Amino acid sequence: MTRVQGDPSPPDRSVSLDHFIGMYEAKADPWDNATKWSDQRKYAVTMASLLRSHYGRAYEPGCAVGHLTRLLAPRCDELLAVDAVPDAVRQASAAVSEFPHVTVARAILPADLPDGTFDLIVIGDLLYYLSGDDLDELLAGLLARLAPDGELVAVHYRDRSGAVWDGAHVHDALAALRGLERLVHHDDEWFVLDVLKLRR
Ligand SMILES: C[S@@+](CC[C@H](N)C(=O)[O-])C[C@H]1O[C@@H](n2cnc3c(N)ncnc32)[C@H](O)[C@@H]1O
Repeated sequence: MTRVQGDPSPPDRSVSLDHFIGMYEAKADPWDNATKWSDQRKYAVTMASLLRSHYGRAYEPGCAVGHLTRLLAPRCDELLAVDAVPDAVRQASAAVSEFPHVTVARAILPADLPDGTFDLIVIGDLLYYLSGDDLDELLAGLLARLAPDGELVAVHYRDRSGAVWDGAHVHDALAALRGLERLVHHDDEWFVLDVLKLRR
């Protein structure tokens, strides 16, 4: 069934891996993350919203070509960044090659969640590509991996059309998750950002 902008329910299917592989084959930086002002501003607001100056272990699922990964690297002792597309993993690895404490790996989520817990989890423009079931599984897996005092940061463009959900609804779903409290909420014409923590 065709989805329309603002559809309140999540998609039935996650966007396929082939779709993302094709995007990287067509263009090295498929979303022009390196040059778009809206992305540069979104990264700056995201980095300014992190509550601590420094973190122990951090995790960035859906790192794409590693622009946010590069910004996160100096703010943590250890950073694991993952993406489903091998070309994205290659580019992100090159982007952070000067940081030996950063690991970039291939992972298809929600199946390939990492071991251990994290003090910081940053998800940028990933969740709206997932089906309702995959989203629920990923969020449950991330919550189980969030350290007691850890921060879960999500940032997504508000509007998205086509086969995917939109950032506004994705962040409503995050806000409705039991067991989390919202410490920062940024909502503007372009994007929505939340910083969440486990409720004590
Ligand atoms: C819009 S980009 C993310 C941008 C990046 N987080 C940033 O802020 O610069 C979405 C990325 O998610 C990856 N992706 C999509 N579905 C995925 C999945 N199920 N598991 C892991 N990565 C996925 C895509 O390959 C793509 O690189």
